[in-house]
Amino acid sequence: MRQMTTPVVQLRAITREFSGSVAVDAIDLTVERGQFTALLGPSGCGKTTTLRMIAGFLPPSSGTILLDGEEATRLPPERRNIGMVFQSYALFPHLTVEKNVAFGLRMRGVPAAEIRTRVGEVLELVGLAHLARRKPKELSGGQQQRVALARAVAIRPSVLLLDEPLSNLDARLRVQMRQELLRVQRETGLTAILVTHDQEEALELADSMVILDRGRIVQQGPPREVFRAPATRFVAEFLGYENFLDLPGRGPITIRPEHVGVLAPGQKPPPGGEVVEGTVAAVRFRGTDVAVTATVGDRVLHAISTDDTLRAGEPVRLHLPLARAVPLAGDDGDARPATSKQQECPA
Ligand SMILES: Nc1ncnc2c1ncn2[C@@H]1O[C@H](COP(=O)(O)OP(=O)(O)OP(=O)(O)O)[C@@H](O)[C@H]1O
Ligand SMILES: [Mg+2]
Repeated sequence: MRQMTTPVVQLRAITREFSGSVAVDAIDLTVERGQFTALLGPSGCGKTTTLRMIAGFLPPSSGTILLDGEEATRLPPERRNIGMVFQSYALFPHLTVEKNVAFGLRMRGVPAAEIRTRVGEVLELVGLAHLARRKPKELSGGQQQRVALARAVAIRPSVLLLDEPLSNLDARLRVQMRQELLRVQRETGLTAILVTHDQEEALELADSMVILDRGRIVQQGPPREVFRAPATRFVAEFLGYENFLDLPGRGPITIRPEHVGVLAPGQKPPPGGEVVEGTVAAVRFRGTDVAVTATVGDRVLHAISTDDTLRAGEPVRLHLPLARAVPLAGDDGDARPATSKQQECPA
């Protein structure tokens, strides 16, 4: 029964200060067994600090950490059953792949015969059994990251912490490794917390997405829910919503550039929504489509179009399907500095 299982990780009002400045601000977080949670947010928002507190490398300034239901706030790292994978692979250069993977098991006093079996199993799991005798420098980045993953999984951790494990890999490999990571997590039933800047990675992998801003959780929920209904402008911008409007009688709304239609001359707009007229300010070629920036009065709007004949300086009509508009709450009434996206000036 669901409510009877103990969450693997519970953070209660966890706060961490560094010489007076607050990096993590009273975070409450519950991670259920077998769940893949993604911690997402801009640089410096407290993601790594949160993981380091869960792992026991950094004591919280205040708050409580429960692991498998037990008080663990002051427990040293070696007494927490936690596996970690970092952005840098952090492998021992002088040890072979299999010795790297065996390391944590040896430290835990696992008998030699069992170490052999488990190392064999996890190398099989990540598809590296044939490279067991190599040294890290004889491996590609993706292979090294698989060794790091195998090493973390080998100890059968109650939770696997992943701090931007894919960000050092090139774009193609990153997408491939995402699938790999998901498969390993599903096959082993592991509980995982993944830190990432990359919204796509979080959308694809996570059962639960937690968005942080300046040390606070600003929204959490299943990826579909958060993506379709970002609560604040901050979350919306982070997830690639680019149009922010304050419509009379509707309040602040946001709409994705993919949903804004660029109407051909004379084209009848689809029913529903509003049509606005403006001028193309910039067109960015993206391969299968173009990203169009247009000025409408003193507003800047963003659309994606397949019309490759659009040119800067020409008039344009845009269709805003209001059925796609997402109403926004304020960002805690906060005057937030504009991001580069908002500041962009028409070319
Ligand atoms: N050891 C430290 N001493 C002082 N300040 C620190 C320390 N570690 C982190 N901070 C500060 O705490 C804040 C959060 O840092 P953290 O490393 O958790 O961010 P992050 O979300 O992981 O960022 P990134 O995406 O760049 O890795 C930052 O302002 C950072 O400068
Ligand atoms: Mg970090």
